[in-house]
Amino acid sequence: MNAASRTTDPPAPAPDWATRLEALRAETREVDAAVAGRRFLSVGGTGFVGRYLVEELLARGAAEVRILCRTPPRGAHHPRVTFATGNVTRPEVARAACRGMDAVIHSAAVYGNPPFGSLGPGQDVADTNVRGVESSLAAARAESVADFVYTSSANVVFDGTPRLEADESTPYAMGRRLDHYTRSKIAAERLVLAANGGGLRTGILRPNGIYGPREQYITGKVVPLVRMLRGLPFSLDPSQRTDWTFVYNLVWAHLLWLRRVREAPAEVAGKAYFITDGEAVHTLQDVVGAMVRGLGYPGRAFVRVPRFLMVGGCAVQERLCWWLRDLGLRPLFTRTEALKAVTTNTHSIERARTLLGYRPLVGTAEGLGYMGAELRARGEPDGH
Ligand SMILES: NC(=O)c1ccc[n+]([C@@H]2O[C@H](COP(=O)([O-])OP(=O)(O)OC[C@H]3O[C@@H](n4cnc5c(N)ncnc54)[C@H](OP(=O)(O)O)[C@@H]3O)[C@@H](O)[C@H]2O)c1
Repeated sequence: MNAASRTTDPPAPAPDWATRLEALRAETREVDAAVAGRRFLSVGGTGFVGRYLVEELLARGAAEVRILCRTPPRGAHHPRVTFATGNVTRPEVARAACRGMDAVIHSAAVYGNPPFGSLGPGQDVADTNVRGVESSLAAARAESVADFVYTSSANVVFDGTPRLEADESTPYAMGRRLDHYTRSKIAAERLVLAANGGGLRTGILRPNGIYGPREQYITGKVVPLVRMLRGLPFSLDPSQRTDWTFVYNLVWAHLLWLRRVREAPAEVAGKAYFITDGEAVHTLQDVVGAMVRGLGYPGRAFVRVPRFLMVGGCAVQERLCWWLRDLGLRPLFTRTEALKAVTTNTHSIERARTLLGYRPLVGTAEGLGYMGAELRARGEPDGH
């Protein structure tokens, strides 16, 4: 194709996630039997991932989806959705929520204040992320729930060391400087693995950087920054690679786990599985770059920020904000977030492929396209 013909091409149609979702559901009917007519407790079903999980269970015929969260949304909800409002760390709340359920999907978590921070006691993070999981496991067992799947994080093996294709034999991250969130996810995983057996089948899914339409956390940081700078004029080490997880690929992995754990419990239960798009990309250029372009700004970068400056600068900023926390200051990025952005960390999805039949349904470029389209649709007050 020459340059002249390129300019006369009609603009590419905006990617339409709703249409693609319908097609994906139609192509993957084989998992419906694991959902149809069953009752599910979704702990954290109002969160970013939780909402997708709930919608999917309903679309595939679940008899009931009960959502456990502290603040249920106002207004009307689906007739097969019920709410068990309260704090999952409270045993009586978790127990009432599990009553009559066939399976629990636990995707409630908090990231800390600041998210992924490593200073201070971190008790708030441990309360929800560790005590909450302990409480919902105990409730599931007491209420004779058959299956329990926990949404963990690939962060459990991330300690800042570059690593390609980490698999499930990679040891948990260790070290004095681990952030509270990572520590809590490791502790929760240990509980979930130890709880497998005696009538309860448990499992763990480990996504890495979940993105997609309706994402709030990354976009909540990046969009204001990009708007303020009218683009993102800096770059990071171009050799960095990581794998991200499109939210629907993760939802699909949950459905596969729910199906396979009934077909082959001895093989499937009691294990962790990395779940990603299976593609190595560059965090800033590819993922953040797609958001920048989605917002209509140029992806040009003028300044390369070296690793030591990015990580050291964010560590100093995190510490300063900690000292001055009474003023309500929060770091733009914590040391852990900076490390993740500049360190190669990819994960093997081979175990998920072999034991769950997982394959990424949506590739990273495609998934970012849906996210970019949704960012544009959210609207930009400055005219972009
Ligand atoms: N987002 C990512 O990039 C990412 C990456 C890797 C792994 N993960 C994991 O994926 C899971 C879902 O993450 P997300 O981003 O969807 O989270 P999110 O949007 O922050 O949603 C968290 C959910 O948990 C509920 N929750 C929090 N504390 C609770 C408590 N004490 N009792 C009851 N409910 C509580 C929240 O509702 P209320 O606030 O109303 O209680 C909300 O429904 C988490 O386990 C997270 O660790 C996320």
